[in-house]
Amino acid sequence: MRQQDRKGRFITIEGGEGVGKSTNIQFIQRRLQDAGIDLVLTREPGGTALAEKIRTLLLSPSDEPIAEMTELLLIFAARAQHLAQVILPALQAGKWVLCDRFTDATYAYQGGGRGLNTAAIATLESLVQNDLRPDLTYLLDLAPDIGLSRASKRAALDRFELEKIEFFERVRTVYLQRAADEPSRCVVIDAGEPLTQVQTAILQHLETLL
Ligand code: TMP
Repeated sequence: MRQQDRKGRFITIEGGEGVGKSTNIQFIQRRLQDAGIDLVLTREPGGTALAEKIRTLLLSPSDEPIAEMTELLLIFAARAQHLAQVILPALQAGKWVLCDRFTDATYAYQGGGRGLNTAAIATLESLVQNDLRPDLTYLLDLAPDIGLSRASKRAALDRFELEKIEFFERVRTVYLQRAADEPSRCVVIDAGEPLTQVQTAILQHLETLL
């Protein structure tokens, strides 16, 4: 489905660990629903029963090391299912889709964090998504040491959160680089500010869409 052929908007939220995605997604969801927008809230990896099973495989600490290419292919397998079952039907029906992470996360985590070849990610992106890309992406940016200490207070750490700080520094670098490369799509929000300021920044931008 080409961008110009669909009515619904596709918005994604990105950022490292502990940046406050959940709180801010709920805030965006409320604001859009208050404006009368028919919205589907979803997440990656996940968003369908099968994709959530793949998420569990990806996030559970595992005795058998997961090869980097296996990880990448599982992420795109989950994405293909999510697109077919949830995202594309919603956009085709004119709904808006608000997604907690999408392919920017793959460039940041698998490309930056794991050091996988960006060209391989781009090939899979084209194969799985054709020309579907988010219309708008909020990148919640925060120093990884602060984010990780927030995340570690929440729950047991998942397989990604167990990575070293250098991994998350590389994730952050790629996120910021992508945002700098695509300023018309990406809005960088300083997630180190107090929540009210973060939400004011999000709201100011959201209003321009409504
Ligand atoms: P989260 O739901 O807490 O953000 O956890 C999802 C984890 O999956 C997070 O650590 C980032 C990781 N992830 C990737 O490594 N690549 C991806 O493409 C996506 C969508 C997520």
